[in-house]
Amino acid sequence: MARQWFLAGLVVLLLSVFISASTAASKAEQAEPWWKSAVIYEIYPRSFADGRNCGKGNLPGITARLDYLSDLGVDAIWITPCYPSPQVDFGYDISDYCAIDPEFGTLSDFDNLVAEARKRHIRLIVDLVMNHTSDRHPWFIESASSKNNPRRSWYIWSDGKDGGPPNNWLSLFGHSAWRRDPLTGQYYYHFFYPEQPDLNWRNPEVRRAMYDVARFWLDRGVAGFRLDAICTMFEDPRLLDNPLKPGTNKFGDPNMENRYNERQDEVHEVLKELRRVLDSYGDNRLLIGETSEASVAKLFEMYGRNSDEIQLPMNFFFAFVPELSAREFRKQIAASDLNPARGWPVYLLSNHDQVRHYDRYATGSDRDSVAKLMAAMLLTLRGTPILYYGEELGMETSPPTRKQDVRDPIGKLGWPLEKGRDGERTPMQWSDAPYAGFSAVKPWLPVAANYKSHNVAVEQQDPSSILNFYKKLIKLRRNNPAFGRGAYVPLNESDNHVLSYLRQDAGTGDSVLVALNMSRQTQHISFDLKRHGISEPEATTLLSSDRHAPASVLLNSLTLRPFAVYIAQVR
Ligand code: GLC
Repeated sequence: MARQWFLAGLVVLLLSVFISASTAASKAEQAEPWWKSAVIYEIYPRSFADGRNCGKGNLPGITARLDYLSDLGVDAIWITPCYPSPQVDFGYDISDYCAIDPEFGTLSDFDNLVAEARKRHIRLIVDLVMNHTSDRHPWFIESASSKNNPRRSWYIWSDGKDGGPPNNWLSLFGHSAWRRDPLTGQYYYHFFYPEQPDLNWRNPEVRRAMYDVARFWLDRGVAGFRLDAICTMFEDPRLLDNPLKPGTNKFGDPNMENRYNERQDEVHEVLKELRRVLDSYGDNRLLIGETSEASVAKLFEMYGRNSDEIQLPMNFFFAFVPELSAREFRKQIAASDLNPARGWPVYLLSNHDQVRHYDRYATGSDRDSVAKLMAAMLLTLRGTPILYYGEELGMETSPPTRKQDVRDPIGKLGWPLEKGRDGERTPMQWSDAPYAGFSAVKPWLPVAANYKSHNVAVEQQDPSSILNFYKKLIKLRRNNPAFGRGAYVPLNESDNHVLSYLRQDAGTGDSVLVALNMSRQTQHISFDLKRHGISEPEATTLLSSDRHAPASVLLNSLTLRPFAVYIAQVR
């Protein structure tokens, strides 16, 4: 009898272990990956925080500021390259993929950053530059050493034609994309600076070596990669001339269509292979892509036919909408939201290569209102937002005014039409102390002029600051499920001034209304939301840029001041 009871007990125990294990597994399968609900924050490490008082930012500097990021509410940080580099392109010219440049710290500083970030539930994403290395990378040094060096085919080498380069291809950073190497008399190809020779991705050894690089960082605990310049990884091996277009560019070179050296289809093979490397870790590691595609259709192909390529291909059609236009943003959002790949949208407005959106959509004092307006859009759409350091303060773009002050080489080559990217890379504005509290000594780039009023210390104290508005938005987003899972439902689609939409969570029935006045005039609008299942005539205010906004408003008569943000619960 005792034996029977024992056996029965054992069966029950095994069953319950089995059931709880399978529920846990199915919960894990059903759970959305972390990056769908994450707010990602881009850091340009050289300019974020100087932890050593040398005038340049570094990894210990970032670690020391993690509490700030945690308080802001970010879930992941993406840091641009900190690997050993001659710094011609400020780190995007890598001479060793598996180490940290002493300028930024050490590998143990890196490990410490990962560990300290993890304590605050912040994940770390690093840049993976696959298109090119530095010309000082041992791979290239070997490759250049002779025509029959085993690494020769790791890069793109070719004989010249008619006493010049192999074809008419141009570097994005000015002039021919080919440089003649006097040692062998052949030319090597570089889409960016001559100090950034392109790797030959048709060579399987190159692929293997780069996937090993990826594993090196994944093993160190990074949550994923931001893939640099993936549209330029392959070139047509026939090396045909590109078709010319009328006119000249900022460098005085002829305009051309990069038909044979950009956006070649083979990149999809590499993305799938790399994605398999990440997926082998089994814990939702992430690929973000610098996907500068020619069309939205091509952009969405980057998700992969079976969602097996990049999870978050950056949408630059949205990021660079040329003017503050409700119609244009609505169009780009709809395209992203309804993309045929059913990929998760990703939204950003600024980065280290472009004039900050703070200066692109407004001038003078309107910029602060527009900063809040854009933040409200970024942080309430269905998708993952990527913020650029300092946008949460209203940091302004501060380009050099004299050629001799330019640090970014393209600004020297293209002056004055091209001033380079220094303007959007100025030191983070921590306080109104000298050098904005970024460093005790003169920083590598001058601090932007608005640092006295737009800095962390001052804005933390001011309830109506841009910084506090970002914090409120991030909190709202986190606490309201409609912002996470909820569908994006565009409203009043013929309105050219006010961008408005619902976020509706089918599961909980929660609905949130977002109305963004993208014009300089007061707008009177009205919503009829019955067909969206909203029957109550009143909306309950959740957040408004207007400090005097009433606690509730009537949906059929809403007044929005210039550039106003209004977010409300509707039922
Ligand atoms: C990407 C980076 C940019 C860099 C270039 C070459 O576009 O964002 O900063 O100069 O790649 O690596």
